[in-house]
Amino acid sequence: LEDNDDDSGNEDTYYVGAAKQFNLIPEEQVTYDGAQIWRIAADSGKDEFLDYLQDRGDLSLWSGNRSLIDVLVLPDVIPRVSRFLRQRNIDYDVVITDLQLAINQENPVRTPEEIDELVGRNGHRMEWDSYHRLEDIHEYMDYLANTYPQVCSVMSIGKSVQGRDLKVIRISRGLANAPALWIDGGIHAREWISPAAVTYLIDYLVEHSDQLQEDYYILPVVNPDGYEYTFRGDRLWRKNRANPQKGGSCIGVDLNRNFGYRWGGMGTSKQPCREIYAGSGAFSEPETRAIKDFFQTSAANFQAYLTFHSYGQYILYPWGYDRRVPPDYKELEAVGRRMAEAMRLAGGANSHYTVGNSATTLYAAAGGADDWAKANQKIKYTYTVELRDRGQNGFVLPAKYIKPTAEEAIAAVQVVAKAIRGAS
Ligand code: ARG
Ligand code: ZN
Repeated sequence: LEDNDDDSGNEDTYYVGAAKQFNLIPEEQVTYDGAQIWRIAADSGKDEFLDYLQDRGDLSLWSGNRSLIDVLVLPDVIPRVSRFLRQRNIDYDVVITDLQLAINQENPVRTPEEIDELVGRNGHRMEWDSYHRLEDIHEYMDYLANTYPQVCSVMSIGKSVQGRDLKVIRISRGLANAPALWIDGGIHAREWISPAAVTYLIDYLVEHSDQLQEDYYILPVVNPDGYEYTFRGDRLWRKNRANPQKGGSCIGVDLNRNFGYRWGGMGTSKQPCREIYAGSGAFSEPETRAIKDFFQTSAANFQAYLTFHSYGQYILYPWGYDRRVPPDYKELEAVGRRMAEAMRLAGGANSHYTVGNSATTLYAAAGGADDWAKANQKIKYTYTVELRDRGQNGFVLPAKYIKPTAEEAIAAVQVVAKAIRGAS
């Protein structure tokens, strides 16, 4: 998206640098002129027809719960898919009529002068009225570590497939025996609101660090290769950028199917071309392995694991692999409801979040980070939060919604922090 290249200066300069660093051959920018998003009423037959259409490469599933599914329909198959649905009396609405138009309007362009002014004023490029490139996010984290060394430190817990750092910021006053929260974002590349909200949370926590009673470990971009690829390749990329299997040509693994609890179960695929490809084995990917290794060596007292996604406005607790609940689900449900209430108060009229068991509320999907955190790391308060919106813009959420959405995320985190202090 040329329009979105607001922070990295000259596109050619950027590309030469990136190509040198990551050995990339320039890839072509995907456009979505005339592509549409349809919201389809899901009835009993929905699974078969979705499988059928997805296998033919006609559709990409954006979101789905038990009653509705959102799908991306490419222009050349609009007539065919529409006929298919009408023949079966399945209702649908066109939610986005020209996806490329929505993409072009999503993120305001910043002039070099505006960026200079920002850096002069704040010492970094980060702000929350536009979506930022990975470099800005990483520089912002380093800025905080340099400026507030008594509360912030930054570490790289590993590298992505293409060699980018997986940067975690630790925010802590160093209180003895403090409980700790893990928070991450950006495991799915196209969910831009997630790293935006998580970095806003970082900003808030640092500003209020004198009141912190717990330690935070925050990884705002779990999937840095995918995230960068959404800016210069395909805005709607989901997976990481893992190389194709021997003999194949499809790129990428769904990192939220690659964790090692019930890996390869329901809601996952063994086919490398699918969006929910689980990888060649549990923790086959360096990004998920880095998180696992971090937890295995960290001395922090983790009591909460929050992973931010979009979209749909859900607060989901385990399990995701099947429609079952953990023994302490009543406490997870109760804290989840308090999160939803706090989010509603923080965000206003559009801030209704649905609370529930992941597989039941959304769909079954095994190998998720949340199930692994709960089952293998024994972290009590484990949630996947699907941020805004409820489908009007889907992944292409205009940047003006970053701040209100991030305020909701902060409210949710505060509820969880209170719960792990035992003060709830
Ligand atoms: N939208 C998320 C995904 O598809 C939901 C994950 C919920 N957790 C789970 N273990 N299924 O990855
Ligand atoms: Zn996601």
